[in-house]
Amino acid sequence: MSGMMLLLLLCLSLGTISVVHCGDPTINFEWNVTHGTLSPLGVPQQVILINGQFPGPNINSTTNNNVVVNVFNNLDEPFLLTWSGIQQRKNSWQDGTPGTMCPIPAGKNFTYQFQVKDQIGSFIYYPTTAMHRAGGAFGGLRVNSRLMIPVPYDTPEDDYTVLIGDWYTKSHNAVKKLLDSGRSMARPDGVLINGKDAKGDGKDEPLFTMKAGKTYKYRICNVGLKNTLNFRIQEHWMTLVEMEGSHTVQNTYQSLDVHLGQCMAVLVTADKDPKDYYMVASTRFTKSVLTGKGIIRYENGKGPADPELPEAPEGWAWSLNQFRSFRWNLTSSAARPNPQGSYHYGKINISRTIRLANAASKVDGKLRYSINGVSHVDPETPLKLAEYYGVGDKVFKTDTIKDEPPEDETKVEVHPNVVNQTHRDFVEIIFENHEKSLQTWHVSGYAIFAVAIEPGRWDPEKRKNYNLLDAVSRHTIQVYPKSWAAIMTSFDNPGMWNIRSEHPERRYLGQQLYIAVPNPSHSTRDEYNMPDTALVCGIVKDMPKPPPPYRN
Ligand SMILES: *[C@@H]1O[C@H](CO)[C@@H](O)[C@H](O)[C@H]1NC(C)=O
Ligand SMILES: *[C@@H]1O[C@H](CO)[C@@H](O)[C@H](O)[C@H]1NC(C)=O
Ligand SMILES: *[C@@H]1O[C@H](CO)[C@@H](O)[C@H](O)[C@H]1NC(C)=O
Ligand SMILES: *[C@@H]1O[C@H](CO)[C@@H](O)[C@H](O)[C@H]1NC(C)=O
Ligand SMILES: *[C@@H]1O[C@H](CO)[C@@H](O)[C@H](O)[C@H]1NC(C)=O
Ligand SMILES: *[C@@H]1O[C@H](CO)[C@@H](O)[C@H](O)[C@H]1NC(C)=O
Repeated sequence: MSGMMLLLLLCLSLGTISVVHCGDPTINFEWNVTHGTLSPLGVPQQVILINGQFPGPNINSTTNNNVVVNVFNNLDEPFLLTWSGIQQRKNSWQDGTPGTMCPIPAGKNFTYQFQVKDQIGSFIYYPTTAMHRAGGAFGGLRVNSRLMIPVPYDTPEDDYTVLIGDWYTKSHNAVKKLLDSGRSMARPDGVLINGKDAKGDGKDEPLFTMKAGKTYKYRICNVGLKNTLNFRIQEHWMTLVEMEGSHTVQNTYQSLDVHLGQCMAVLVTADKDPKDYYMVASTRFTKSVLTGKGIIRYENGKGPADPELPEAPEGWAWSLNQFRSFRWNLTSSAARPNPQGSYHYGKINISRTIRLANAASKVDGKLRYSINGVSHVDPETPLKLAEYYGVGDKVFKTDTIKDEPPEDETKVEVHPNVVNQTHRDFVEIIFENHEKSLQTWHVSGYAIFAVAIEPGRWDPEKRKNYNLLDAVSRHTIQVYPKSWAAIMTSFDNPGMWNIRSEHPERRYLGQQLYIAVPNPSHSTRDEYNMPDTALVCGIVKDMPKPPPPYRN
């Protein structure tokens, strides 16, 4: 059968549920998730591989592609992946968080089907089950611009993905046991760049090669577990061009702070002596600094990399100033052929302010993390499925937290944390960090305008300091110790969406919640019906599937 016919049949058979969009190309992947043994820091340890790879394969897609990933879970426990920053328009069914999907049982497979609709940029995928992220199974996900849409820089000679992250030599199961016993994850053991740390003994293979005189794109993402990393390349400046899906004003940096879960794309020109250079990622805001490095080689270059590594900046103020230098390029085209700046987010009235404060506390002697006094646990029945089958009230309550932090944030209840949110409201969320450690927050399902980060306490007066013109539209934002961050977004994408700490330890121990955005139009224009292929589990497992609630 020809590919064309196959596509046609797929379109016909899926016509009514419309998960794969006919007309837009489909890219297919088959992924085999297994355990393996590697020694990324010189000590053999158990890792999680995808098709034998650590980190997992890169997904190279183009705006509006339909992405089909058939995941075979060959671990000995349930598993899920999330596509972090992919907005999943109308489709929280494929978001891969335990509140939206049943995990893929051990020994079974599930096929994710989603569209990278109207998006461009640099993203990652990673596991959301157990503490699997401490084992691997993360990777890069890039969405290229369609050829007809101009990009605000010349096509680079090549396009490289650089996954940086701190790393533990303990297996993901050992880390999970530690957390389950009520303890914390302690300090990581090293920093990896694309799964490796160069030894510096002259025998390291280069991670990347550059031709002298050419310009390359590097997409740098922090896939780590605990720390912000500062990234830099010996002797080379980096021109920032994109951040989590938005073209930025093209400032040039000697180094960049990349917080957990964030991605930044930079251009680097090979304009120095033709030899080897180190790229360096080192932990920020830690007493002892851990450093990882990798080699970039000039083609036909001669000579090893200088063993002396460039210094990292110090302190919070530097990092905050760098955040303030990030601006959205208002004149460049987006995924759609209209200027991004035609969306004047600063002129829209705020209809709701939600203030979310994180806290660490002990419940029954065990460490838990919480938001506004609730530490989330995933029920056996995913929230989205419970709601769809009409048994939501048996599984969770909505609005168990208030829109502002309680007086005592450390008085904590442990149950699902779900916030009901009216469709299409334009909402301001303030992440208030009264703790002494840095936080990083991710919002799934939406792009968010990161309008401010400031030290101290938030009050409505602070709104006059917001960037209401050219804040970068992104997915993940850091909050410095004893500081707050403000984001704005329009909740125009019905579904069940996860707001989570990007610190896997904190997420696992409860620092996350779900935003339930109903579909008042009852139309598949706004939200898809549950796909026929969805896995079922928990109390809905043996229930008859409800008739599709939404019309075409
Ligand atoms: C996945 O990998 C396992 C272990 O290497 C192998 O036994 C199995 O056949 C593979 N499955 C698929 C579907 O490739
Ligand atoms: C990624 O996709 C783009 C556009 O289809 C293509 O030009 C490029 O060669 C691909 N890169 C890789 C590494 O496959
Ligand atoms: C599992 O993989 C098989 C073989 O590729 C495929 O036909 C089937 O649809 C997959 N099952 C699910 C639930 O995705
Ligand atoms: C923004 O994008 C435009 C249009 O592509 C480009 O010409 C311009 O150089 C960019 N501006 C900045 C400051 O990066
Ligand atoms: C926003 O609110 C102000 C004051 O209540 C009102 O005058 C204005 O018309 C509103 N703007 C929009 C776009 O709704
Ligand atoms: C959530 O909000 C929607 C719309 O505002 C409302 O129709 C629905 O009843 C609410 N659900 C709950 C459980 O409060």
